[in-house]
Amino acid sequence: AEALRIGIAGLGTVGASVARVLSEKAAELTRQCGREIVVAAVSARDRSRNRGVDLGGAKWFDDPAELARNADIDVFVELIGGDDGPAHNCVKAALEAGRHVVTANKALLARHGIALAEIAERKGVLLNYEAAVAGGIPVIKTMREAMAGNSVSRVFGILNGTCNYILTRMEAEGLSFDACLKDAQRLGYAEADPTFDIEGHDTAHKLAILTSLAFGCKISADDIYMEGISNISQADVRAAGELGYRIKLLGVAQATESGIEQRVHPTMVPTASVIAQVHGVTNAVAIETDILGELLLSGPGAGGNATASAVVGDIADIAKSRPGFQHGPVFGRPARELKPYKRAR
Ligand code: HSE
Repeated sequence: AEALRIGIAGLGTVGASVARVLSEKAAELTRQCGREIVVAAVSARDRSRNRGVDLGGAKWFDDPAELARNADIDVFVELIGGDDGPAHNCVKAALEAGRHVVTANKALLARHGIALAEIAERKGVLLNYEAAVAGGIPVIKTMREAMAGNSVSRVFGILNGTCNYILTRMEAEGLSFDACLKDAQRLGYAEADPTFDIEGHDTAHKLAILTSLAFGCKISADDIYMEGISNISQADVRAAGELGYRIKLLGVAQATESGIEQRVHPTMVPTASVIAQVHGVTNAVAIETDILGELLLSGPGAGGNATASAVVGDIADIAKSRPGFQHGPVFGRPARELKPYKRAR
């Protein structure tokens, strides 16, 4: 079969890791997919930066939108980030031009996911986003493919690696919030603007995507009650511990009699519970359904390699797909109403 030609826009932590995995695992991927995956083109802000990865003969584009429309690629891989501006324009342009798209961009999907899904479905191309939620955990594929027929009653979890890393180290090593955040940034876990991590926005973006898949409702991060961890002090962590609890930043979506409730906030979980054993940058997603019962997935939630693994998985899926094959609907079909979460007093 002919090689699958991809264009990567954005060569930060994740983009560089994707390029590295594709190059180091080229033989393995060719064997698994039955065809070669070639990085035909790339685009990033700074051309001169040394990213420690061999981009081979990839053509360089200064403008990612030009790369998105380039007829020489089959798949546009968006790793720029941000819910608007270049990422949004490029993904839209790529889909309209009939290219498959792979993205890790939860902020973009939380805001424009349904509109982008409609373009993909109309154009008959794939829009894959496994890396957008819980890094390396294959939760999107699990929910879209493996749980057919199940009715979900609740989905919740630890969806931000940076916050869980901070809370874990504050508890285990008695370190300050700020010192832990700095390390999370150094290790490539945090968002470009870490406010998104610690104030709960990133968890909310991911939860909004999971909610749509779980309950077939619109994606709406704006309807999420949100509280981050920036006010959690060493004293809070210690007090929780003395009472037999651990503090975790959870995202929760559940069906109530009047609609789907979504919330993000620091939560005291019993130290002996399974979710309390999720340490460091690890994420966990719990899904409760009628047929399956309770499912808990856990694994690396942030960082170059974990995220690259999910991105490469999405690219490989496209390499294995046949022309005309479309995995729709991309998100849940509107079926249920969202209900604003009212905090218990
Ligand atoms: N900043 C995110 C996190 C990256 O810490 O989980 C993965 O989405």
